[in-house]
Amino acid sequence: MKLTISALFLALACVATAQAQSSKLYTVVDGYKVDAETMKGFRTWRAAACDRCHGANQEGMVGPSLIESLKVLSKDDFVKVVRDGRLEKGMQSFGNSKQVMDNMDQLYAYLKGRSDGAITRAKVEPAP
Ligand code: HEC
Repeated sequence: MKLTISALFLALACVATAQAQSSKLYTVVDGYKVDAETMKGFRTWRAAACDRCHGANQEGMVGPSLIESLKVLSKDDFVKVVRDGRLEKGMQSFGNSKQVMDNMDQLYAYLKGRSDGAITRAKVEPAP
């Protein structure tokens, strides 16, 4: 009986995981092995040096914690603030950065994964 119940729970957990995965912008294993697109997002984050103001772990410095921001900011608002900046408040504009503009979705996916708590380490690696 015990065995049956734990098998049932295991089955349910698998279904829940599969559903969560399919609706996701990113895939991650072990908290830091990510898919190729999310890797591009991380490389863009590094190349654009967002960490200078938002911190290496996105937890905020001069700029706010993006872990917190992305829990409430819509994707559209994210794109707008990254593209146009909020110059008077110290957030620069990346509309002229080809790398950022070309990898906006990937950058969002990476940061969303961090904000969701699914990507547990800022420095990610390609999934094998
Ligand atoms: C020169 C410092 C600086 C850099 C570099 C920088 N930011 Fe910002 N960022 C800020 C500041 C300061 C704010 C807060 C603006 C405000 O008060 O509205 C901000 C705000 C934001 C917000 C909105 C947060 C919210 O809750 O409304 C997002 C998203 C964001 N930055 C993403 C990025 C990304 C992605 C990069 C790299 C491509 C980046 N930032 C680079 C300083 C910076």
